[in-house]
Amino acid sequence: MTNLRFISPLVVVLFAMFVATVPVSAQENFSRGDCNLDDQINIADAVLSLSILFSGAGPALCPDACDVNDDGNTDISDPVSLLSILFSNAGPPPAPITCGQDPTPDGLDCPTTSSGCTAPPAEICDNNVDDDLDGDIDCADSDCATDPVCLPPTYSYFGDVYPQVIQTKCTVCHAPPSNFGGLNLEDSMTNDSYATLVNQPSAECGSYDFVEPGDSSASWLFRKIEGTHVAAAQAAGCSTAAAGSQMPIGGFCCLTPAEIQLVKDWIDQGAAP
Ligand code: HEC
Repeated sequence: MTNLRFISPLVVVLFAMFVATVPVSAQENFSRGDCNLDDQINIADAVLSLSILFSGAGPALCPDACDVNDDGNTDISDPVSLLSILFSNAGPPPAPITCGQDPTPDGLDCPTTSSGCTAPPAEICDNNVDDDLDGDIDCADSDCATDPVCLPPTYSYFGDVYPQVIQTKCTVCHAPPSNFGGLNLEDSMTNDSYATLVNQPSAECGSYDFVEPGDSSASWLFRKIEGTHVAAAQAAGCSTAAAGSQMPIGGFCCLTPAEIQLVKDWIDQGAAP
């Protein structure tokens, strides 16, 4: 009884030696690491691999798939490699990663009697998973280059900037009756908020328009929310004293990095209404 656990690895080694002597013939496609041939590479493959090695399960239907590190042997280093890939960011296994033939000749094969693998899993571009196991996740994967979820969003004033930033963070001061700084940003029957800003010179430093379409760094509104308005005034020869404060002023300061980025992207994309 006690010797059984040593016999199992021996059987595997003998099996490996046996298949090594068999001439290369038609092989089933497989995905490296998918030891149980369920088209997924996960902990179950490591468990099966260990069971084959140490608990008499097996032999593997497709030994090449269990040879995670592609060293031509199925041994303890394979489940170890697989666990590192799954849990320690060890990077993808050697090819074939998404269902194919072994590009490196070795003694292991994937006989046509096994189910091998089915179609390569496609990368789903917004699930934060490396579905096709090529090492690139979601939008970082070139497969997703034209997927709508990976294209940069295009912002508009009335669709994004006005409701998300101006209305929530600015009109408390920049609307009648106060119109602080002489600036009315409220969109109403009598005031077009967009027209007030785009291509309109600021009072504090007339060299800058509030919004210069396509150029956030030349836009006074952006410099005021970014907090680079004093440097901007200096660069343009305006009075730095007149440049005033970062917006929203005082205790209301400042916008979140995401809000500042939204305004920046909107201007740099052309400041669409
Ligand atoms: C708590 C009141 C308050 C809030 C909130 C506020 N502002 Fe101001 N804003 C002022 C005051 C007061 C001035 C004039 C003094 C100064 O510039 O420091 C001013 C001036 C400005 C100017 C310069 C006007 C000019 O003619 O050059 C811009 C641009 C501006 N604000 C944009 C914004 C934006 C964008 C927001 C929202 C993200 C905002 N402000 C939020 C009070 C406020």
